[in-house]
Amino acid sequence: MDAEAAARAYGPAFDAAVAADERIEPRDWMPDAYRATLVRQIAQHAHSEIIGMQPEANWITRAPSLRRKAILMAKVQDEAGHGLYLYSAAETLGASRDDLLDKLHSGRQRYSSIFNYPTLTWADVGAIGWLVDGAAITNQVPLCRCSYGPYARAMVRVCKEESFHQRQGYELLLELSRGTEAQHAMAQDAVDRWWWPSLMMFGPPDDESAHSAQSMEWKIKRHSNDELRQRFVDICVPQAEALGLTLPDPDLKWNEEQGRWDFGAIDWDEFKAVLKGDGPCNEQRLTQRRTAHEEGAWVREAAAAHAARKQARTATEREGAMAR
Ligand SMILES: [Fe+2]
Ligand SMILES: [Fe+2]
Repeated sequence: MDAEAAARAYGPAFDAAVAADERIEPRDWMPDAYRATLVRQIAQHAHSEIIGMQPEANWITRAPSLRRKAILMAKVQDEAGHGLYLYSAAETLGASRDDLLDKLHSGRQRYSSIFNYPTLTWADVGAIGWLVDGAAITNQVPLCRCSYGPYARAMVRVCKEESFHQRQGYELLLELSRGTEAQHAMAQDAVDRWWWPSLMMFGPPDDESAHSAQSMEWKIKRHSNDELRQRFVDICVPQAEALGLTLPDPDLKWNEEQGRWDFGAIDWDEFKAVLKGDGPCNEQRLTQRRTAHEEGAWVREAAAAHAARKQARTATEREGAMAR
């Protein structure tokens, strides 16, 4: 059956399943563009998880106590695990992991721009947990209801771990904020630097977002970028107050009529520059990723050789059992 005939035959069932809020599974027929959109989004998400390990891993050796070090190591390992779930989800769509990594390493696929900012002080670990993981949760909770089954299920687990990440960041900042004057200042400085980039994590404003409308129709996305950004601001304002820290936006104002916090203009020029590769750490992140990949080649080769030998052994045993 050619592609057009398949679309005629199976398209209505796909549309009906999406309309009824049922999950689309790997063996189901799906439009090529739906598959391509998911591969692009899941790959970008997977890349963000593993590149996101770098800014925080930078502080593992300098964590101020054993407790903090153990927490941070667990968190960075969680992010590696998120990458693995997501690459596996992309594989269910027919993508190859080698190909996706190749696209990341050659700059043909992106990861979230937020990870191109440096972690200058220990307080940045707190600000990342509170704001960056917080923004990630706001984005990802609705993805637990995404129309594509494997992605939705991966998100359920990821979100549970992200909420731990968010809380550890909040708790770290709270301790610094209530600490010495210098510690409080360090926490405030980290929040000053991470606040605006966190708001950019939701992507361009709705009227400039190229893929949004179609993704909403397919129920890959459930809410627009601006809606999610607003939700995040409304969550953060009272939390900042409880932390005793100030969000660096003089235009932040309670809007009684709308029941939400109005906020100032986002510097989209900065967003575009970082996206284009001109952020403070773009070069460093990709170089480090490529090096990690090359240095890990022997592990992949050994794992593949082990798997092949195990498979061969099982096949021989099965033949032996059949011969008896
Ligand atoms: Fe994550
Ligand atoms: Fe996280």
